[in-house]
Amino acid sequence: MKFFIDTADLNEIRELNQTRLVDGVTTNPSLIAQSGQKIAKVIEQICAIVTGPVSAEVTAIDFENMLKEGRYLAKIASNVTVKVPLTVDGLKACRTLSREGTMVNVTLCFSAAQALMAAKAGATFISPFVGRLDDLSQNGMELIEDICDIYANYPRFETEVLVASIRHPLHVIQAARIGADVATIPPKVLRQMYDHPLTKTGLEAFLADWAKTGETILESI
Ligand code: G3P
Repeated sequence: MKFFIDTADLNEIRELNQTRLVDGVTTNPSLIAQSGQKIAKVIEQICAIVTGPVSAEVTAIDFENMLKEGRYLAKIASNVTVKVPLTVDGLKACRTLSREGTMVNVTLCFSAAQALMAAKAGATFISPFVGRLDDLSQNGMELIEDICDIYANYPRFETEVLVASIRHPLHVIQAARIGADVATIPPKVLRQMYDHPLTKTGLEAFLADWAKTGETILESI
């Protein structure tokens, strides 16, 4: 499973990229707004930190301007993935941009029918928002299962399932159980994934016992 980081915060990206577990980054207009920077600048900086796909979302809602914005964003760096919303104009823009060789992430997906259309439009990634469905008492992970089942029937589909709107580590585990290709994980959740209180207390106990020996490993070589 690929781990993308869902943020436009450069400090978070720099720090988490050090884990060597980061395969890409996703942003959206809200995350860019939170960064307080112009989109071209912050996407350029993210692409200089992370070599994997970096999603930058258009804000136009009509096909022609989506194309203009998408082509502009794609020129920022070779690892830019243009993000378009799952609307008919977004699907048309996806079809055109993907045929031009641009990676496209079709976002704001909330149904299997939408995901099927995105795959037909040549999307590189489809982003179903599990958290936002859960927030409405719908089971977001069932959508992931449906999409993965459907895509498995069509080997020529090259669209990767990028699970988005992740709220906690269980979302990542459930997505991995289903076999989704990517999880885009908020920094806080990624940290929750490796932090465990029993690991912390267990390590403290090991080191306390070791300290009593007065030994150090290197000196004993
Ligand atoms: O960035 C796309 C998606 O991950 C947004 O998630 O938390 O705003 O529902 P969220």
